[in-house]
Amino acid sequence: STIMVLNGPNLNLLGQREPETYGSETLADVEQACNEEAAKHGLSIDFRQSNHEGELIDAIHEAGQLIKEGKMLGVVFNPGAYTHTSVALHDAIVGAQVPVIEVHISNVHARESFRHHSYISPCAAGIVVGMGTFGYLLGLQGLIHKTA
Ligand code: DQA
Repeated sequence: STIMVLNGPNLNLLGQREPETYGSETLADVEQACNEEAAKHGLSIDFRQSNHEGELIDAIHEAGQLIKEGKMLGVVFNPGAYTHTSVALHDAIVGAQVPVIEVHISNVHARESFRHHSYISPCAAGIVVGMGTFGYLLGLQGLIHKTA
C-alpha cells in the first residue's frame, strides 16, 4: 500500500527559504527520508508538491479514490499557508473522507497570530507541529499506527 505525502505552496523552496525557520534540508531530502521510513514498513510513498490550491484539492480527491480501492492508507499533508486560508481544502478532506496527518515544520503557534488558526486541524486525524522536517517521519508513523 501507499501513503501520499502532499506539500503545499512554497515548500519547493525548502532548504533555501528562511532556513532559520524551516532548516537546511531540501524537499528532495525529505522525500528520500520518507521513502526510507515507508520501506521499513513495506509501504511506498507518493510524494507531491504544488503551489496551486486546486491541484492540492485534486490530489486529495485522488487519494480518496485510492483509499476506497484499498491502495492507499492516507495523506501526510503540509498545506503551507493554505492551512490558514483554505475552506476548500477543509471541504476536500471531509468530502473525500481522507485520513490526513497535518504537518508543520515550524511551531506555528509560536509565530505570527495569523498562523495560529488552521482550517485543516478540525478534520485532521492527527497533527505534528514544530518538529522540523523530522515531523514528516512522525506523521508517517502516526498514520501507519492509525490505519495499517
Ligand atoms: C508551514 C507553516 C505555515 O504557516 C507556512 O505558511 C508554511 C510552512 C510549516 O511547515 O511550518 O508555508 O506549513
